[in-house]
Amino acid sequence: MFKEYFQYKGICFPHMIYSEQVLQLVENSFQVRDDDIFNVTYQKSGTVWMLDILSLILSNGDPTWCRTVFNWDRAPWYETVMGYRAALTNKLPRLISSHLPVQLFAKDFFKSKAKVIYTVRNPKDVLVSLYHFASMFRPYKDPGTLDQFLEEFLKGDVPFGSWFDHVKGWMNLKDEDNFFFITYEELQEDLRGSVVRISRFLGKDLDDAAIDSVVANASFEAMKSNKMSNFSRVPRFLMDHKKSAFLRKGISGDWKNHLTAEQSERFEQIYQERMRDLDVTFPWDKK
Ligand code: A3P
Repeated sequence: MFKEYFQYKGICFPHMIYSEQVLQLVENSFQVRDDDIFNVTYQKSGTVWMLDILSLILSNGDPTWCRTVFNWDRAPWYETVMGYRAALTNKLPRLISSHLPVQLFAKDFFKSKAKVIYTVRNPKDVLVSLYHFASMFRPYKDPGTLDQFLEEFLKGDVPFGSWFDHVKGWMNLKDEDNFFFITYEELQEDLRGSVVRISRFLGKDLDDAAIDSVVANASFEAMKSNKMSNFSRVPRFLMDHKKSAFLRKGISGDWKNHLTAEQSERFEQIYQERMRDLDVTFPWDKK
């Protein structure tokens, strides 16, 4: 069953970590609390980075939680078979991660005051990061050549579906009070300023020392050396760390080292077509 996908409402998911039954439960039966905080992304957009930032903010900058509890226990991915159970039993307020497109998200969320932090990343960097991830994450199909994978990505023929649909779907909520969006690039540009904005959104009033600690403990280096955040403890049957590290490079613009001028142009053309109707300018849109 490894390396095979099943379809759920037109989106593919890998077997073993996901099941149709749990996806149905998440969508239709998961009870959202008003104090829930959801860390939502299209995969490879900075999920675990935001997960640690949020863990640190909720801990007022104290890194103990981040250093002693695995990230998937602190903020379980509630659409996974294991994560669903953890999300039901975690202590309050719950921190929950998700890669689900908006149409598959818990229906109960839309009647709640729970908060979503949605992190978006330059899709060319998402593609490159996902390409490396697909080679090391065993439930995913072998990505083949970058050229082949580029076409699958552009078509949305990858787990969690199309990046374009995901971003456009979630960004429909951009004017809601309980929705906050930020880009990976903004986190890179100004992590401190981003932490201040996120804390404010969560209604957490952190002093300067606490903010400094969030910034220091959420750096790429700090996270890469934290076994609770770097996935080094994930069993080899799930991740092959010899192929790629999960915290691989942690930079913006790595696509320039991987895509040819032709591939980049092809991407750009589809991007312009698909994103035309979204009234948002991302950092990578500015020439
Ligand atoms: P790269 O593969 O480009 O290095 P996700 O958590 O959504 O799967 O995203 C993983 C990507 O976020 C990886 O990108 C990873 O290195 C990057 N990342 C994780 N923590 C980071 C941090 N503290 N600073 C910068 N990038 C980080």
